[in-house]
Amino acid sequence: MKATVYEGNKTFKVIDKEIEQPKTGEVQIKVAYVGVCGTDVHIYHGMMDKRVNIPETIGHEMSGVIEAVGEGVSGFSVGEKVVVRPLDDRKVKASDKGFNHICEELKFIGIDSPGAMQQYWNVPAFTLHKLKENTDLKLAALIEPLSVAAHDVRLSGLVKGETAVVLGGGPIGLLVAMVAKEAGAQVIISEVNPKRIEKAKSLGFDAVSPIDVDLVDYVSGKTEGRKADVVFEVAGVQPALDVMCEVAGIRGRIVMVAIHGVKKEVDLFKFFWKELKLIGARVYEKEDYEKAITLITANELPFEDMITDVQPLSNIQQVFENIDNNPDGLKVLMDCQA
Ligand SMILES: NC(=O)c1ccc[n+]([C@@H]2O[C@H](COP(=O)([O-])OP(=O)(O)OC[C@H]3O[C@@H](n4cnc5c(N)ncnc54)[C@H](O)[C@@H]3O)[C@@H](O)[C@H]2O)c1
Ligand SMILES: [Zn+2]
Repeated sequence: MKATVYEGNKTFKVIDKEIEQPKTGEVQIKVAYVGVCGTDVHIYHGMMDKRVNIPETIGHEMSGVIEAVGEGVSGFSVGEKVVVRPLDDRKVKASDKGFNHICEELKFIGIDSPGAMQQYWNVPAFTLHKLKENTDLKLAALIEPLSVAAHDVRLSGLVKGETAVVLGGGPIGLLVAMVAKEAGAQVIISEVNPKRIEKAKSLGFDAVSPIDVDLVDYVSGKTEGRKADVVFEVAGVQPALDVMCEVAGIRGRIVMVAIHGVKKEVDLFKFFWKELKLIGARVYEKEDYEKAITLITANELPFEDMITDVQPLSNIQQVFENIDNNPDGLKVLMDCQA
């Protein structure tokens, strides 16, 4: 079979290797599609070389079909369509308080252990979620990032009729916006990249640039001065942190989706003054995966438009180089069987 390996130094190789049989408790998946995540791009840039066991196959946003079932696995059969929830929480402890998805010793499959950018992939059976037979496997590769969005919206407590402001209209921001809209919110997206603003508009969103308009005035104007009930910080930059406390109304909830690797400045006075809440949100839980699967199966949201390119595994090096040269694209999928 063909597999890709990240070798460090912005280099991927495509190799031929033997297909390994699944071990006890494992399932072998014939991988259909793998989405390239921002984290994969960080890995490509060498920013996670200490964590990734180089040379390593990466990738965690995938869909596929069960090819073989290892010993001791029940409830799964060959031919079933599945996605992997790439969280290895086997070392969960009592002090994790049942929040397995963020347990202290969590291992992320596809970063800390081999990932999906290969033709066949063996994973522990407990990571699998089944898909309906008629599920489009291309769209199913969006289930992982869509689960992030489902988790963020669930933790925000967003209810119908509320106003949500999404700071950052990248792949995750757009998916958050879709889930929030589906939950009945009025959604406003703030994004600086003109191509991405256009894209957000074409998906039916109210999208503006905080460079061109005063975002706080804009949101005030759309809410009779109440401003946002929920703000999703999905941009990951200081200007977004500055505006999030301004654009949130009284008792607004701010969901921190973006990963800020270094300490940043936040106007804490606003938290006191308006009784704001800050909610951290990391990956997803089982129920978020099920929510994402329901949304993908129903296929009533513009998921198709999120996929801006599909490439064979053999083009992996080019795919990562292109992503670097084109910040406008959204989700690039690798077709693992092409
Ligand atoms: N919480 C989690 O578990 C989780 C999971 C996946 C991704 N993430 C994080 O979510 C964030 C978004 O991911 P992504 O893949 O969509 O990234 P991305 O970089 O593609 O998107 C960020 C967007 O923010 C825009 N932006 C930059 N400055 C802005 C500003 N001042 N105002 C408004 N928009 C601005 C950029 O143009 C870009 O489109 C990243 O920080 C990522 O690490 C978190
Ligand atoms: Zn991801």
